[in-house]
Amino acid sequence: MSDFGFPLAHVASIPPYPPGRPIDAVAREFGLDPAAIVKLASNENPLGCSPRATEALAKAAAETHLYPDFDCYALKQALAAQLGVPATHVLPAAGSSELISLVARAFLDGDRKAVIPQYAFQAYEGAIGSVGAEAVIVPVRGWQADLDAMLAAVDDRVHLIYLATPNNPTGTVVPTVDLERFVEALPPHVLLVLDEAYREFLPPEQQPDIARLFARRRNLLVMRTFSKVHGLAALRVGYGIGDPELLGLLRRLQLPFSVGAPAQAAAIAALGDAEFVERGRRENAAERQRMEERFAALGIEHVPSFGNFVLARTGNGPATAQALMRRGVIVRPVAGSGLVDWIRVSVGTARENDIFFEKLDDVRADAKSAVVA
Ligand SMILES: Cc1ncc(COP(=O)(O)O)c(C=O)c1O
Repeated sequence: MSDFGFPLAHVASIPPYPPGRPIDAVAREFGLDPAAIVKLASNENPLGCSPRATEALAKAAAETHLYPDFDCYALKQALAAQLGVPATHVLPAAGSSELISLVARAFLDGDRKAVIPQYAFQAYEGAIGSVGAEAVIVPVRGWQADLDAMLAAVDDRVHLIYLATPNNPTGTVVPTVDLERFVEALPPHVLLVLDEAYREFLPPEQQPDIARLFARRRNLLVMRTFSKVHGLAALRVGYGIGDPELLGLLRRLQLPFSVGAPAQAAAIAALGDAEFVERGRRENAAERQRMEERFAALGIEHVPSFGNFVLARTGNGPATAQALMRRGVIVRPVAGSGLVDWIRVSVGTARENDIFFEKLDDVRADAKSAVVA
C-alpha cells in the first residue's frame, strides 16, 4: 500500500511521458536568459501561427467567461468543408493526444492488446498502459514500420493499432501503396489509428489519399492536429476523421468542453490560411535539408526525415542533450525509445539551426578534449 491507498498496479508501471523541457524551466535550472534559449525539442512551428489565428484568438479573449461549444459546430463545419466529408465524420479533440487516450479507453482493457511499431510516438505506450492493456511492439525494418510483421502480430486479443506517418521520432513515412494494402488486410476486429500529425510536411502528392483508405476500411481513425504546421500547440486542438458511429463512442468518453473556445476559433482561422501552411511546409523542407547536409558533413548519422525534426546519432543522447541544454539549446533525448545514442532535433529557423550546430560543435569539442585529458 502507498500513502495513496491502493493504486492500480498497471498505473504505477506506465512509462511517464517525457515532454520537451519548457524554456522557463531550463532558464531557471541553468541560470540562462530565457530570451536567448533555442527550443528544438517538441516539433513546434518556428514561424509561430497564422496572423488570422492570432486575430481570432484576440476576439475569443473577450468571451472567456462562456463555456465553449462542446459540439464544436463551427470547427466541424470548417473541417468538413475542407476535407470534403460530412461534419458527422469529424471529431475535434484537445490535440491528437486526447484521441490517443480516448481510443485506448474505448477499445482496450486488461485482457486486450495493442500493436505498435518499435520507435513509435511515446504517448501510445502510455495510453495502452493506462488501461492495463499489453503493448505488442513490432521491430522496425531499416527504420520503417514492418507492416507484414505487424499484421502477423494480430490475434484475437489485439483490438488497436497505432501507426504514424510520418513517424515521430524517426521521421519515416509509410509508402501509400503499402498503407492501402495494410488497411485492407487487417481483420475487422482491429481499429487502426493512423496518426497524421506531420502530414502537412509532406509534399501534397505524397500525402495519403484518405478517401482511398476509408473505401477499404471502416474501422479506421485518422488523427490530425493543429499543433504542428498550424503552430497552435499551446491551444491543444486536433481532430479525428472516421465513421460517425466510432466518433460517437469516443465522444462519450471525452472530457466535457475539452476543446476551449479560443482553440476552436483559432483552428477555424488557421484552416483558412493555406498560404501559411504552404510556407511552413516549404521553409521546413529547406531547413531540414540544410540540417541533414550539416549532419552528413560532420559524419553524424541521421535518419532521412519527412517531418519537422531530424533523428541524429550524436552518441550518448541524454549527455549530449544535457550539454546542449547548459548552452541554451533544448533538444530531445530519445533513450526512452531505446535510441540511447541519438537525439531528436526539431527543425527551427535558419538562425536557430545555426545556433544548434554551433553549440553541438562546442559539445563535441569538449567531449573530445575530455577524452584526451
Ligand atoms: C506522432 C505524434 N502524434 C501526436 C502528437 C500529439 O500532438 P497534439 O496532442 O499536440 O495534437 C505528437 C506530438 O508531438 C506526435 O509527434
